[in-house]
Amino acid sequence: MTLQIIIGTQWGDEGKGRFVDLLSADAQYVARYSGGDNAGHTLRIQDHVYKLHLIPSGIIYPQTTGILGNGMVINPRVLLREMDELNAAGIKISPDRLKISYAAHLITPAHQVLDAAREMHLGKSKIGTTGRGIGPAYTDKARRVGVRALDMLDLASFSEKLKQNLEQKNEELKLYGAEALDVASIVDEFRRFAETLSPYVADTSAILYDALKAGKKVIAEGAQGALLDIDFGTYPYVTSSSCVAGNAMVGLGIGVPGSIHTTGITKVFQTRVGEGPFPTELFDETSHFLRGDGSKQWDEFGTTTGRPRRVGWLDAVLLKKVIQMNGVNELALTKLDVLSNLLEVKICTAYQGVSSISPLVLNDAIQPQYRSFKGWSGDLMGVRQWEDLPAEARDYVLFIEEYCQTPVRYISVGPERSQLIKRF
Ligand code: IMP
Repeated sequence: MTLQIIIGTQWGDEGKGRFVDLLSADAQYVARYSGGDNAGHTLRIQDHVYKLHLIPSGIIYPQTTGILGNGMVINPRVLLREMDELNAAGIKISPDRLKISYAAHLITPAHQVLDAAREMHLGKSKIGTTGRGIGPAYTDKARRVGVRALDMLDLASFSEKLKQNLEQKNEELKLYGAEALDVASIVDEFRRFAETLSPYVADTSAILYDALKAGKKVIAEGAQGALLDIDFGTYPYVTSSSCVAGNAMVGLGIGVPGSIHTTGITKVFQTRVGEGPFPTELFDETSHFLRGDGSKQWDEFGTTTGRPRRVGWLDAVLLKKVIQMNGVNELALTKLDVLSNLLEVKICTAYQGVSSISPLVLNDAIQPQYRSFKGWSGDLMGVRQWEDLPAEARDYVLFIEEYCQTPVRYISVGPERSQLIKRF
């Protein structure tokens, strides 16, 4: 009865999708517990690239059931599009294979418009959201006026609740000087969504309880990254949900199971989209090198928004803190191949004049101190064995392991499922 949790240890975009995919090979359930379509998981399997925003990445394996947990906010339009795309790619999505929690909240176009209006209103202090309506949907949840998946089961009351919610949003939009939305047409569209999606709505908490009790393998798939967590991230430059491992229990409605194994996915350098402090950010030639020019699918441009990501050296100070806060048992490092051919690579190991740091108190004035490593050359994408990595690359990985006091179990050296080194 082990719950396998997979989280991102940075500001998202660590490459979680491929590890959920890897660890799902023998899983029965793969469950998302937070966020919405602000997430973007890219999977490259042979020649096919899957870009998933809502459906858990483990769905690619035929024996898995995907769960969209109560901690999520779901845009039904995006979900249906994703289901269509998977069906077209031969991955059949049916109510047997995908379950939506009764208690998950729905995102409407009003949430999206409000997201944009709030950002515009914030001006220079904007968060840099993905514009997917995430914040306003969670706001509705906390204000107890949200519309939930459960509501889709009774079309008459669903339409009424939605109408009330949208009318209230129109009032709010007025305050921002934004145009009112056509409530009737959105309600019509959402009634059609509800008809299609209602067979998928279920008591997912009960399903997962039974699964864990029966000793089945359940994966809790984190979204975003621990540093975007609403409580423990770089507030206010965070998302509106809890991305830490502890929220897997709340966001899926399960008690703490017999044992939990948490894998932290960490890119070997740091990236961030949106605003907020980023002590190790680079602006020089190395930043272009790390980001890429967008010509490769794995270059550092957002899966959801296409925005160029901010890039910098790995911040091991924050990583260590995240490992502690999330009870990370092991690390999976991604993109080691990208660091090849640099003369020197660096890791931030301290902040000047600060003995202990938390993402909670991070600010732009903080000065990182680095440990420098000799770079290595050559293409790592074909390497499959730890021993075959250049000695300098191994030193770099071993340092992370030692500094964080956490074993590095996996290292990815390319976007393909097979481009992976398993150390144990
Ligand atoms: P929101 O989640 O759209 O409200 O955006 C809030 C912040 O989280 C912004 O800085 C976004 O760029 C960031 N963010 C949200 N989801 C992701 C993600 O999946 N990867 C990386 N950044 C994200």
